[in-house]
Amino acid sequence: MSQQNEQFKKLVSHCKEYGFIYQSSEIYDGLAAVYDYGPYGVELKNNIKQYWWMAMTQMHENIVGIDSAIFMSPSVWKASGHVDAFSDPMLDNKDSNKRYRADQLIEEYCEKIENKIKKDVTKAAKKFGDDFDEAQFRSTNQRIIDRQSKIDATLGRMNDLLKADDMAGLKEMIEELEITCPVSGSKNWTDIRQFNLMFSTQLGNIAGEESKLYLRPETAQGIFVNYLNVQKTSRQKLPFGIAQIGKAFRNEIVARQFIFRMREFEQLEMQFFVKPGTQQEWYAHWKEARLNWHKALGTDASKLRYHDHEKLAHYADAAVDIEFEFPFGFRELEGIHSRTDFDLGAHQELSGKKLQYFDPESNESYVPYVVETSLGCDRMFLAMMGNALQEETVPDADGKDSTRVLLKLPYPIAPVKCAVMPLLKNKEQLTSKAREVLDKLKFDFNCQYDEKDAIGRRYRRQDAIGTPFCVTIDFDTLEDDTVTVRDRDTMKQERVKIDEVAGIVSGKVAMKSLFKSVTA
Ligand code: GAP
Repeated sequence: MSQQNEQFKKLVSHCKEYGFIYQSSEIYDGLAAVYDYGPYGVELKNNIKQYWWMAMTQMHENIVGIDSAIFMSPSVWKASGHVDAFSDPMLDNKDSNKRYRADQLIEEYCEKIENKIKKDVTKAAKKFGDDFDEAQFRSTNQRIIDRQSKIDATLGRMNDLLKADDMAGLKEMIEELEITCPVSGSKNWTDIRQFNLMFSTQLGNIAGEESKLYLRPETAQGIFVNYLNVQKTSRQKLPFGIAQIGKAFRNEIVARQFIFRMREFEQLEMQFFVKPGTQQEWYAHWKEARLNWHKALGTDASKLRYHDHEKLAHYADAAVDIEFEFPFGFRELEGIHSRTDFDLGAHQELSGKKLQYFDPESNESYVPYVVETSLGCDRMFLAMMGNALQEETVPDADGKDSTRVLLKLPYPIAPVKCAVMPLLKNKEQLTSKAREVLDKLKFDFNCQYDEKDAIGRRYRRQDAIGTPFCVTIDFDTLEDDTVTVRDRDTMKQERVKIDEVAGIVSGKVAMKSLFKSVTA
């Protein structure tokens, strides 16, 4: 098993073992690509959402939030283009009966070539040591040049075919590249057909197309149809934004990689309404601001990158992904799209209601353009867990080497901020003092009382769920009202007055500490 696979397996089992994520309906063998968040998972997820929500609504006077319903009039999805164009090109392998996305098969083919390039680069880096210049090596080594041009040509051709909706051409390409089914190993493919990703249900007990309702595949449309209500009631002027966090649903046929691709997931979306003609400027602004938001969490810059879209969604005139290096490679974490006036224009036309904004400065009415930022909450969760989970060799109580599993989450998003521990569980004076300390601290942040097992094991347990601080109450506490505060990352312990604890912990766990670099 590759090191990356091994790392990913550890991450998935850590999520289960420590109460972050469970398979949905596990006692019935689970439901594919649907997951539940456990006690620590829900806290971490809520903290991610809070960081995003504050960054959008609290840090910007001109961004306000809404919470729109999951069910919307079916006309919304007709106007938005989702009924006709929200689909993936799928094909089946006739021997394994497995279904695949045609574009993903081709992308995986290119990834294999990219892995060969990476191997050559690693080998050369070892050989040349400190003098190694990767950019120069990539641009002069003939084998790498040939492989890179094969990748570029393959992806270029695929995007042209997707743009032209040429499914026969796409199948021909898969056959030419001799792509085989990962399960059966055969090239026995069906034709490619478009498969709509929306889930549908019925309104009341009336059957038929008339009463068909969709579970929203994105939260954005709830913002579009409310934009004038919000603009008027919150007295906003252009440019202004509307933020929303909520569930979205997609019938993903190839649902894999744990919570990366789910059928029910959560989105954090913000639509920024701008004057037509200024959208490129705002697109560039949000592209940078969103990357800064990710970097402020301490994510290594080398793990984040932009990926400009070649094949634009039906609503966009420019689009970029912020990709994160997951254990299975760089993948989309967030999308930033310049959606033009596509959505508002389409809703105006189908509903027959005017969706124009009156601009008091230029004295004219127009349909605004929209720049959207769209982050997947579950992917963000996976990225944060992947970044944070590590193993360290540290001395144990006897001075011998031992392994500590550490979840090095940024302090402000850690599920539990502070664990309060009496040194011994069967000494009533210690446990009641510890409860007294907990009762003070719980007004400021999420705390946990922990008295079971030896203190060293309790520290390890808290390290594994990412708790930044452990406060221990010992016999000295009873004499002088001081406690030890242990920092998760340095493992250093400091003796402080009980009254100082809240200040020390708050200074490090407050969301405020993240915002300095994201208020662009
Ligand atoms: N409103 C625009 C929109 O929905 P998208 O690129 O399809 O754009 C936005 O989705 C984000 O939602 C993605 O960047 C990803 O993080 C998340 N996302 C999309 N499909 C997902 C799925 N099946 N499971 C988990 N997250 C998903």
